[in-house]
Amino acid sequence: MTRQLVDIAMETLKTQGHEVLQSDLYGMGWKAVFDDQDFPERANQGRLSFIEESGHAFLNGCQTADVEAEQGKILAADAVILLFPLWWFGMPAILKGWVDRVWAFGLAYGYRGAGNAYRYGEGGFAGKRALLAVAVGGPEQDYSSRGINGPLEQLLFPITHGTLFFPGMQVLPTFAVYGTVRMDGDRMSNEVTAAWRSRAERLFDDAPIAFRPQNDGDYPDRHVLADHVAPTRTGFAAHIADALRPDASGDGGSLMAGNQSVALSAM
Ligand SMILES: Cc1cc2nc3c(=O)[nH]c(=O)nc-3n(C[C@H](O)[C@H](O)[C@H](O)COP(=O)(O)O)c2cc1C
Repeated sequence: MTRQLVDIAMETLKTQGHEVLQSDLYGMGWKAVFDDQDFPERANQGRLSFIEESGHAFLNGCQTADVEAEQGKILAADAVILLFPLWWFGMPAILKGWVDRVWAFGLAYGYRGAGNAYRYGEGGFAGKRALLAVAVGGPEQDYSSRGINGPLEQLLFPITHGTLFFPGMQVLPTFAVYGTVRMDGDRMSNEVTAAWRSRAERLFDDAPIAFRPQNDGDYPDRHVLADHVAPTRTGFAAHIADALRPDASGDGGSLMAGNQSVALSAM
């Protein structure tokens, strides 16, 4: 199913004149595990601190070539699409490992050596859009607002908010194909195919999820929401504004133009 999502996205985006930079993780033989091999020139031989070594490697140009290439694709892209099957309510390990290794300290976190000064709406990936396209085995009902699994968008909050919005991307509502384990003939229906095509076409038009930026005043101490903001809400929902502010996309006009570059990472 994930492969069909990839094929439709490629065809749609190319038809629209976008350049697509694809990362087919299994096809590339992507190394999923973040380990000491990621740091050929260690800053500290004594203790393996991933944050320290990641920052050292990123700043000194001694990251591995595969990580550098993926960062290059993301930095060149106006939008990033992650396509994956839902595995244990999250992304498969190979894609998680892609994030672990590619989201370097100094780039995706610890941006500009300023700790957490730039995060949630600002950071190394600011100005880019992001979209998840997920193949979900279970039926849509199970992921509805009172469904037994919990709502899909809430289950994916650690990815949309914690992984994509954190380094600055504007994240669109997730596209999901449900019930993939029971799909007749292993083909997505015409209806789902058309829905995904249409979402891909509107990649640069759809409004992003209104996650609250860290530095726009809602978090006066950069940690906790101000008492007057969403006073009756707690948990994930408190971090999403009710209505889209006019400037919520933060993208500027240029993203609306054609011929964008899109990085597409799939497993
Ligand atoms: C390791 C594993 C974990 C899975 N976890 C979930 C899950 O948490 N929720 C769910 O609805 N389906 C789950 N599934 C079913 C997959 O989502 C389903 O097989 C997938 O969407 C099919 O897409 P594909 O044809 O690209 O593999 C899981 C499947 C596997 C193999």
